[in-house]
Amino acid sequence: MRKKKRDYSQELLSKIKKRKAKVGIIGLGYVGLPLAMELAKVGFHILGVDVSQEKIRSLKKGKSYITDVNNDEIRKFVLRERCIQVSSSYNLLRKADVVCVTVPTPLKKTKDPDISFIVSAITELKRVFHPGILIVLESTTYPGTTREFIVSEIERMGYKAGKDFFVAYSPERVDPGNPRFTTKNIPKVIGAITETCRKLAYELYSTFLKNIHIVETVEEAEMAKLLENTFRAVNIGLVNEMTIMCERMGINIWNVIEAASTKPFGFMPFYPGPGIGGHCIPLDPLYLSYRAKMYNFYNRFIELATDINGNMPRFVLSKLSQILNRDKKSLNGSRILLLGIAYKANVNDIRESPSREVYRLLLNENAIVDYYDPLIPEFRESGKRIKSISLKPEVIRKYDCVVVTTGHSDVDYKLVLKYAWSIFDTRNVYKGVNSDKITRL
Ligand SMILES: NC(=O)c1ccc[n+]([C@@H]2O[C@H](COP(=O)([O-])OP(=O)(O)OC[C@H]3O[C@@H](n4cnc5c(N)ncnc54)[C@H](O)[C@@H]3O)[C@@H](O)[C@H]2O)c1
Repeated sequence: MRKKKRDYSQELLSKIKKRKAKVGIIGLGYVGLPLAMELAKVGFHILGVDVSQEKIRSLKKGKSYITDVNNDEIRKFVLRERCIQVSSSYNLLRKADVVCVTVPTPLKKTKDPDISFIVSAITELKRVFHPGILIVLESTTYPGTTREFIVSEIERMGYKAGKDFFVAYSPERVDPGNPRFTTKNIPKVIGAITETCRKLAYELYSTFLKNIHIVETVEEAEMAKLLENTFRAVNIGLVNEMTIMCERMGINIWNVIEAASTKPFGFMPFYPGPGIGGHCIPLDPLYLSYRAKMYNFYNRFIELATDINGNMPRFVLSKLSQILNRDKKSLNGSRILLLGIAYKANVNDIRESPSREVYRLLLNENAIVDYYDPLIPEFRESGKRIKSISLKPEVIRKYDCVVVTTGHSDVDYKLVLKYAWSIFDTRNVYKGVNSDKITRL
């Protein structure tokens, strides 16, 4: 009698339903760590792998390195209940039933996508691969990645997707620092390779999420994430261009946006700033335009928004030069304090931060630059360790101009207003405040 073939999908479905599935997470960063927490909270055993020894050490000491995950949660799940195991070795994943991949997807120096982190994660995963596993890619990437770099790679080992292993793509949409929308309540989009893969991925995410939107293909899910972030980059580009135009016309852009926002339909406010930063908005549209070129398609909106947003730090510099000029000062030799080095308010993330670009541009002009950031006590620039100053009256008094580059909530802006000689507010933190000291973007 012929032996009945194992039905991996039924086995996994039942394990997920009973919370008996072991869930591996590759990449415990801004996306992977909160995901690990949510899955642990609903009862899954988590196997977290990260190549950063420093992050693994920190988690093993019960310390978080991400603002949205607190130390108590880490101590509870990693140290006391031990339902989150972490390691820098992929051997930990030998027993994983599900693996979520949340590794970085940066750009190369040439501004082309760098998917080498996904490639190396899958290469390592293949080493510990066993049939019956569900792999979900969450990293942002161009349409075609899941099929080309996960499905094809594993099928080359002789396994069949949808039968021997299962694959889905589900983009992470978390907005770090946003207390209202988190990994737990942001609706999730899922695209999968087959109907069975879809069922399994849906079952996994519905253990901690109410709102799930299924699309027909993995490519639709990959593209949906890129549409969202391109939409943001283009609209920020539009408002940044309006800002440059309004400054020439002597019109306050912030008041214009506030007025336009009273329209209850057909308008959505976006705000100007010294540029765009973070691991998503400046990068993701370029993933799309890269892929589109392979189809002989050129995304003009993306190129234009990238150009305008990328030039905002220079616009800030030229406006700052005008501010100093009013006091018969030049950038060269002036003392400038940047308030905020993180890429956006209330996060400790410095990746692609426009404030950092303003910092570099000021150094190029021989300005004497310091920064204050309550969330980033230090950062590295050209191999040097740069430390945040402490915000005290006598310190604030030393600077020719204070530039608000990041609008963190936890900054004493009143103190700054009291003691600064001059303030250049690129984030409208002084909304409604009337003072000759303040110049707005
Ligand atoms: N940060 C965000 O706001 C955000 C939001 C939505 C989506 N995303 C996307 O999610 C993905 C991850 O972003 P992130 O911000 O969490 O990045 P991150 O750098 O904070 O975290 C990624 C982690 O992966 C680890 N890593 C790198 N290569 C690895 C490998 N081969 N094996 C194991 N670990 C590895 C890194 O050490 C790091 O800790 C990216 O594609 C990003 O575009 C990010």
